[in-house]
Amino acid sequence: MGYVKWLGHAAFEIKLDGKVILVDPWLRGNPKAYCSPEEVNAPDIILITHDHSDHLGDSVEIAKRTNPTVVAIYEISESLRDKGVSDVVGMNIGGSAKVKDLEVIMVPAYHSSHIGSPAGYLIVGKEATIYHAGDTGLFGDIKYYAELRPITIALVPIGGLFTMDSLQAGYFVGLFKPKVAIPMHYDTFPAIKANPEDFERAVKKYSPSTRVVILNPGESYEF
Ligand code: NI
Ligand code: MN
Repeated sequence: MGYVKWLGHAAFEIKLDGKVILVDPWLRGNPKAYCSPEEVNAPDIILITHDHSDHLGDSVEIAKRTNPTVVAIYEISESLRDKGVSDVVGMNIGGSAKVKDLEVIMVPAYHSSHIGSPAGYLIVGKEATIYHAGDTGLFGDIKYYAELRPITIALVPIGGLFTMDSLQAGYFVGLFKPKVAIPMHYDTFPAIKANPEDFERAVKKYSPSTRVVILNPGESYEF
């Protein structure tokens, strides 16, 4: 059985086809972190959406301790190698990579970053296809990717200011109609305060077949 566990902010621990995947593990300094970087389960894979500190987070420290394959956009992958991370996959938007028997597809995200470009990920396994949207504003191209790889579970930012807000995120979900949508990247600090029930209402309007699952940090959705 697989699960998606929210570690707080944009950080998730995912179990898919028996593999443990960490996405954007920012834990130290994260006011909503469920656990510390030392307490995190050893991942098989770490995915990094972009190099803002609330996403790159503790990736290097966790990678050096647990030796997973770390996936990032090409420029960030080079900087990870310079920092001593040995097992690195550098890719780019639209690319796909076979990583430990899972298919990882890097998809666009409308945002900024220090180096490289921001991204989201589709993680395609036998049990499910999971989409982590990263930090992004509203954009439409995800529906093309989802036609090729129908999305089971979508992790979508709703906090506004730096990303989509609840209404935009609900409309966004309507573009690709996943089975389940889980809100993230809100309420970590006052600037991104949001009510996930506003997101749930917007999803009901634009994608009635999608179930919204609202998690607290440390809680999991099992599939
Ligand atoms: Ni960001
Ligand atoms: Mn962010």
